[in-house]
Amino acid sequence: MIRVITFGTFDVFHAGHLSILERSKSLGDYLIVGVSSDAFSTGKKKRTPIYSENDRMRIISALACVGEVFLEESLEQKEDYIRSHAAHLLVMGDDWRGKFDDLRNICDVIYLPRTPSISTTAIVEVIKKT
Ligand code: CTP
Repeated sequence: MIRVITFGTFDVFHAGHLSILERSKSLGDYLIVGVSSDAFSTGKKKRTPIYSENDRMRIISALACVGEVFLEESLEQKEDYIRSHAAHLLVMGDDWRGKFDDLRNICDVIYLPRTPSISTTAIVEVIKKT
């Protein structure tokens, strides 16, 4: 039973989000998702999420590929989250390539390619212009 963990804001849920979650699940048996809190995500992306952390967690937890979700409150707690959820494999998008290599002493780490030409930022920009 391979437990896979991944993290993200997943604001304004889109097909790139679905693809990385489905690909993450396919690398193991059970998928755990750390959804970035409003405060953490605002600091990281310099933009307050459009959807609240509660709504983003509800959306992610409703997906067939997702076993459970929890709130990710900081980057520094990554190791604690991996340990407390007994994860064997950390999956991150390749926008984070190399950033979590030091966690290889507690779990496997895989960076998956992002889906091209889609992002929450791009969607928000299109909506602003229309
Ligand atoms: N992701 C992906 N392909 C995309 C967009 C996101 O695989 N086209 C992945 C990211 O690599 C990350 C997860 O989805 O592992 C959550 O990404 P997030 O930062 O929430 O989404 P973005 O659309 O990149 O958001 P933003 O534009 O606000 O940075």
